[in-house]
Amino acid sequence: MAGALKGKTAIVTGGGSGFGAGIVERFAGEGARVMVADINGEAAARVAAGIDVIDGSEGIACEVDVSDAGSVAAMAAAARAAFGTPDILVNNAGITHVAGPLEDVEEDMFDRVMAVNNKAVYLAARQFVPAMKAAGSGVILNIASTAGVSPRPNLSWYNASKGWMITATKSMAVELAPFGIRVNAVNPVAGETPLLASFMAEDTPEMRARFLSTIPLGRFSQPAGIAAAALFLCSDDASMITGVAMEVDGGRCI
Ligand SMILES: NC(=O)c1ccc[n+]([C@@H]2O[C@H](COP(=O)([O-])OP(=O)(O)OC[C@H]3O[C@@H](n4cnc5c(N)ncnc54)[C@H](O)[C@@H]3O)[C@@H](O)[C@H]2O)c1
Repeated sequence: MAGALKGKTAIVTGGGSGFGAGIVERFAGEGARVMVADINGEAAARVAAGIDVIDGSEGIACEVDVSDAGSVAAMAAAARAAFGTPDILVNNAGITHVAGPLEDVEEDMFDRVMAVNNKAVYLAARQFVPAMKAAGSGVILNIASTAGVSPRPNLSWYNASKGWMITATKSMAVELAPFGIRVNAVNPVAGETPLLASFMAEDTPEMRARFLSTIPLGRFSQPAGIAAAALFLCSDDASMITGVAMEVDGGRCI
């Protein structure tokens, strides 16, 4: 599939770390020009600078808070200046509250999870959907989670935010299909990224074993595996696929 995104442009939010960085690297490796958009500007710059430029690919760093309307508008303006309307938008930036009883999660943390995981999808849609409609094409990919399908205890508000994302994916897909815009999601299982420790509350061998025991293939997901699914769903090979939330979960949701 080398060169699958040649000539395409993409924005990957949360591209400075974990799954997002993996998606950036894979998309650039397939020839895309990619905006690495992250609240951590240094991380975005590091990932953008690390891209092996091949055959027209490029990394462009952008510092953004995806939960802030003004900041998302500035990101959209920067993208327009760099490469016009993006062909692909990956809503990947996400956070969680630390695992714990649902009644103990403080209100400001609850609000922050909903703002970064959910409101951001709405804010980005308002910036990019009108131009995608005008172009008659576009791909939006939401990085949701198995948490939205098969919730684990002690992550209730995070789980609910990912369920929201899956419903938003399907609703956006059915509404935007007549305009030639596809919208899909990827549902990763627990993965080896900096977020994992918060999901487990404590990063111990016992806790890791407990999580792994619920994944039939017996291993955590990795950025490269999530990036491979993202690449497929965002490529023209998936031109007939919209509204799916694809598990990349080693069988966890069976
Ligand atoms: N790691 C897992 O186990 C797992 C499993 C399922 C789904 N996910 C989802 O995958 C996505 C990526 O997570 P990850 O594990 O790579 O985490 P990560 O913490 O490694 O990366 C997340 C990135 O998002 C950025 N970010 C956070 N808030 C932001 C904001 N307001 N604006 C812009 N950028 C912001 C962070 O700076 C970071 O670079 C998230 O949506 C997460 O919910 C992760």
